[in-house]
Amino acid sequence: MVRYMVTSALPYANGPIHAGHLAGAYLPADIFVRYLRLKGEEVLFVCGTDEHGTPITFRALKEGRSPREIVDEFHEHIKTTFERAKISFDHFGRTELPVHYRISQEFFLKALENGHLVKKVSKQAYCEHDRMFLPDRYVVGTCPYCGAENQRGDQCEVCGRPLTPEKLINPRCNICGNPITFRDSAHYYIRMKDFEEKLKEWVEAQKHWKPHVRNTVLAWIEEGLEDRAITRDLDWGIPVPVDDEDVKGKVLYVWFEAPIGYVSITVEHFRRQGREGEWKKFWLNLDGQTRVIHFLGKDNVPFHAIFWPAFLMAYGKYRDGEVEAEWLLPYDVPSNEYLNLEGRKFSTSRNWAIWVHEFLDVFPADYLRYYLTAIMPETHDSDFNFADFKSKINEELVNNLGNFVHRALSFANRYFEGIVPERGEMDELDERAFDEIERALKETGDLIARYRFKDALKRVMELAIFGNRYFDYRKPWKTSKVDPVRTATTVNVSLQIVKALGILLEPFLPDASERIWHLLNLEELKEWKFREIKPGHRVRKATPMFRKVTDEDIIHFIVNYIGRGNPASARVLLDRYYKREEVVKATLERSINREESLAILRSIYGEEIGGGTEEPRKKEKEGKKMEYVDFEDFARLDLRVGKVVSVENHPNADKLYVVKVDLGDEIRQLVAGLKAYYKPEELLNRYVIVVANLKPKKLRGVESQGMLLAADDGKNVALLMPDREIKPGSKIR
Ligand code: MF3
Ligand code: ZN
Repeated sequence: MVRYMVTSALPYANGPIHAGHLAGAYLPADIFVRYLRLKGEEVLFVCGTDEHGTPITFRALKEGRSPREIVDEFHEHIKTTFERAKISFDHFGRTELPVHYRISQEFFLKALENGHLVKKVSKQAYCEHDRMFLPDRYVVGTCPYCGAENQRGDQCEVCGRPLTPEKLINPRCNICGNPITFRDSAHYYIRMKDFEEKLKEWVEAQKHWKPHVRNTVLAWIEEGLEDRAITRDLDWGIPVPVDDEDVKGKVLYVWFEAPIGYVSITVEHFRRQGREGEWKKFWLNLDGQTRVIHFLGKDNVPFHAIFWPAFLMAYGKYRDGEVEAEWLLPYDVPSNEYLNLEGRKFSTSRNWAIWVHEFLDVFPADYLRYYLTAIMPETHDSDFNFADFKSKINEELVNNLGNFVHRALSFANRYFEGIVPERGEMDELDERAFDEIERALKETGDLIARYRFKDALKRVMELAIFGNRYFDYRKPWKTSKVDPVRTATTVNVSLQIVKALGILLEPFLPDASERIWHLLNLEELKEWKFREIKPGHRVRKATPMFRKVTDEDIIHFIVNYIGRGNPASARVLLDRYYKREEVVKATLERSINREESLAILRSIYGEEIGGGTEEPRKKEKEGKKMEYVDFEDFARLDLRVGKVVSVENHPNADKLYVVKVDLGDEIRQLVAGLKAYYKPEELLNRYVIVVANLKPKKLRGVESQGMLLAADDGKNVALLMPDREIKPGSKIR
């Protein structure tokens, strides 16, 4: 039986994950793996953060922080985001771990011992102004292959070729913008010529790869492979494990060690389970049964299909007391093209992106997974578009799937008190329903196995369409009056289709699948195999599966998430779909902090947004019309004295704290925008005034159970506090 070692490209721990990443390498792998698990296959799915190299040091430099701070922050952040998106890794590790250092250094030493490395002194990019060598992303210039401008020295984003800073035309320092110079520096290079023939033969034999990937890789090999430096002049990374003055203080090239992370993370996974040796059957050719499958975005193809296999070959045989075996070369490298956002490339630097952690604050994971699968860039680039998102969710997920499940369950409850009825005599159409179930399982499975996730999802939805048609044609609301046996058959068959959908959806929409299992009140483990629900089984009451996406949701997301980070991008998106008045109205209706919402709206649209609050203020000043409230209105607010017992940074928002406040008989958690004004230690143990009966609300994913009162003059903010000590919980009157 085949065993599967599945990986998703290790994301750099230098920023959050965006929808393009998710659609490229993580969601497809997750669908594939979930399917294999349902089939009962042996499969291990690993990933982790890639924590070295210039993507990390460059961000650290820009932000004046240490690389370690950056990777620690984003390792946690990315891990949590994947959990929220229901990506079901068996292990999510990282490359900043001793086990990874050890194995990476071992790969280097083995390659050296086997004569595949040479030390060469050559001219390396150097910046006189910043007084440092400039590896990889520290240099920008024109791609020598395709002429694309402003490419970084590690890889051309346009033609995909790996580069080196020295190759770029008109190279400039990416830190200060000055032209670069060159200085001698010694590095270890891997002699790619040693592997050219072997690689070519191997790739040629991989007939199961996507033809276009295989052809591109072959063309690159045929152009001739140059030696590639696998060490760098950088002070963050894995030390070069040789006692050699020439490379003292230098580190291993990130693209040398990162793929080794797949192995080290697997080793770590089994070590933690106390099953030390088991990693070997996933990475070594012990019985010819393991398939290593690397899911990735297209820019990663040359690294996984040429360099990584070469590193594995350079290691030679792995030997220890128990085994002696070759490393497994990748069985396949399913890669995706790029996802655009409303017609433009995702860009982290221009903040033109859908950040997954933000999107999941507003929309359920299933919606994101559904939409990204429906538009997955499998064969060509595709586009994330809000109008399309809304219509796909509402028409396909809610109206088709959700509706069918709901109808089937409602009728089971209405006519049979939630007990699955016996079927009467089956006619051709009833028989066909069972065929449809079998076909859907078979065909969806085949499509997933061929990495055609988009078509696979469509195939699942076809079964829901069939279900709805079946139901419409049977009209149980009519037959119930005249033909109870017919109605029983209809309801029974419909519930069987619902169950099949529960299985079929699991790889794509794990939450929806769970909900179907719950509604059907099933306890059995899900398997990619259909077994009928037996008559007499009790199902639960119908509750709606999904909620429609509204324009207000979309406006809320664009204004409060995209707009907060990048008002200009938000403006472009909003103008595409909505009138300004609509946006202002929808935003203020949903806002919990009117001033803050107005500030964001102003930053998006310019100064003129009043939204109604400024006017009363003006009126107040002019002393014209004062709007009175009754005492009863005031008394409806439950204002209380609280004492701050803890202050933490909000995990997903730069300006917010998560503050815990003692209200006498309970501890409340509040999310407060005070970070710019108070240090945590200034807040701790302070008395504050809390609106205790404000409706709880999630702010960027964290629940706020009330609000702190503060004065705001537009520039500064001052917390209100009682002017002498008083018991926490005291009422303000
Ligand atoms: N960090 C790389 C990227 O985001 C991918 C590394 S994949 C690995 O493009 F194989 F090197 F781990
Ligand atoms: Zn190029």
